[in-house]
Amino acid sequence: MGGMRTLSLVFRPAAPEDAPLLHQVYQASPGYFALIGMERPTLEDVARDLATLEKDHRRRAFLIFQEAEAVGYLDYKLHYPEAEDATLSLLLIREDRQGQGLGRRALAHLVEHLAGVERLYAVVYGNNARAIAFFKAQGFRHVKDGGPALSWYVRELKAGP
Ligand SMILES: CC(C)(COP(=O)(O)OP(=O)(O)OC[C@H]1O[C@@H](n2cnc3c(N)ncnc32)[C@H](O)[C@@H]1OP(=O)(O)O)[C@@H](O)C(=O)NCCC(=O)NCCS
Repeated sequence: MGGMRTLSLVFRPAAPEDAPLLHQVYQASPGYFALIGMERPTLEDVARDLATLEKDHRRRAFLIFQEAEAVGYLDYKLHYPEAEDATLSLLLIREDRQGQGLGRRALAHLVEHLAGVERLYAVVYGNNARAIAFFKAQGFRHVKDGGPALSWYVRELKAGP
């Protein structure tokens, strides 16, 4: 026996019935909501958001599992802002699991599955130095500020196989 085992991450599409699980991930991540100056969403908010999201055929939402444990959430929109782009609205790793490489691995997993997408944008809310450091470390560059509390980052993806 030797070495450390890297537990694989599994993305599972988040449907409205997953609201309790996503709510738990949010409840366990108070720092993010404090940072962006928002209340943590209630279970009803989460259920409503997932139902709304499901109606938009360009939106994709996934719960991120490590073994049986929900450790994060990912939400992006395909063909936005342009047809060949995608935009990450939120990548959230549960607070007690941050800083362990899961965000980096989740992003790599996403990029692998974005066949045909040329640019991946990331929208960062609030004064979120950690997220900015994270996206820069993952090859994103700042594009523009969309208002005092919103900034856009982008990473060019390799086209083709
Ligand atoms: C931002 C976030 C997704 C990063 O995920 P994570 O699992 O904590 O990050 P990782 O452990 O994979 O870090 C990857 C790299 O990002 C950078 N990074 C991460 N946290 C950092 C910090 N606090 N300060 C500086 N750099 C940091 C480092 O370069 C790190 O590389 P290393 O592991 O070689 O040191 C996570 O902290 C999170 O969910 N935050 C709350 C939600 C949020 O702000 N989402 C982004 C806006 S959409």
